Amino acid sequence: MSFTSQRGPFPQTRLRRLRANAFSRELVRENLLTPADLIFPVFVLEGSGEREAIPSMPGIERLSADLLLAQAKELHSLGVPALALFPVVGPEQKSLMAEEAYNPDGLVQRTVKSLKDALPDMGIITDVALDPYTTHGQDGIIDEAAYVLNDVTSEVLVQQALSHAAAGADVVAPSDMMDGRIGAIRSALEEASHPNTLIMAYAAKYASSYYGPFRDAVGSAGNIKGGNKFSYQMDPANSDEALHECALDLREGADMIMVKPGMPYLDIARRVKDELKAPTFAYQVSGEYAMHQAAFTQGWLAREPVMLESLLAFKRAGCDGILTYFALEAARALQ
Ligand code: PBG
Repeated sequence: MSFTSQRGPFPQTRLRRLRANAFSRELVRENLLTPADLIFPVFVLEGSGEREAIPSMPGIERLSADLLLAQAKELHSLGVPALALFPVVGPEQKSLMAEEAYNPDGLVQRTVKSLKDALPDMGIITDVALDPYTTHGQDGIIDEAAYVLNDVTSEVLVQQALSHAAAGADVVAPSDMMDGRIGAIRSALEEASHPNTLIMAYAAKYASSYYGPFRDAVGSAGNIKGGNKFSYQMDPANSDEALHECALDLREGADMIMVKPGMPYLDIARRVKDELKAPTFAYQVSGEYAMHQAAFTQGWLAREPVMLESLLAFKRAGCDGILTYFALEAARALQ
């Protein structure tokens, strides 16, 4: 039987027409991923000339501030607008009250200053949470039962955020999930004459098991007292609650809201964008990165196209930007 001799009925609409050539595919392409969509999370260490591999995050290293600066320069030249800074501190800097978190001469504060001095145009985002600085690995101050105390923690977070702003951070990003901390930080920033410091709120942050490699990276993995963060991070079963969280953080003065993790929560990103119409970000977290790397290393998935497809998904879901450990590699690939 010959296919050419077939007679109708012909499809009224052939969606494949527009797919047949590169020019028409380009004309109708709805979303575009560029380096300007990316934020690179980085881990900073004390010292100079120091680099340490993170076994569960192949390709990502903890770097001392001097090496980080070299990396930041490359990111900047590739068009990546911002990086998100996470400290790795030794046990001698951890305590029950996390005093090191707001040390004006602490690792984060010094690193922010040196990055801003050398690269004033690069956006520097700092993490506001106590987990790198507590002996027990929880994001806040705990009571005897290891319950994280909301209002006491919030006061320490305010001090931490102020110290970051004073050091020159462009954006403070509370990732702790305490109630009311965005409002408290916003008022304190206003009072301290930092009216233009941005707040990117980890607004819908889930109690996810995808954070494992990050906890390895910052050295809080083994010692989370109580074993989980269920009493403050969100239940993965919930969706409406994410809208409630995001709306509250915006009302309290957040400039940008974030959904975290990323790929397993793209439904949340889309709902947040559709319902609130505010600048919306997502964090493709360490576990998502590790899964991809594992498959790439095994040769089970093709590195570059899969990486880019995973990031384009965030644009389709309505995100304005993506925190991703692929930022450097993706920005190189997108040149
Ligand atoms: C802690 C924090 C976490 C991440 C960012 N900030 C881990 C956690 O909540 O336990 C996770 C990031 C990642 O997995 O890449 N404040």
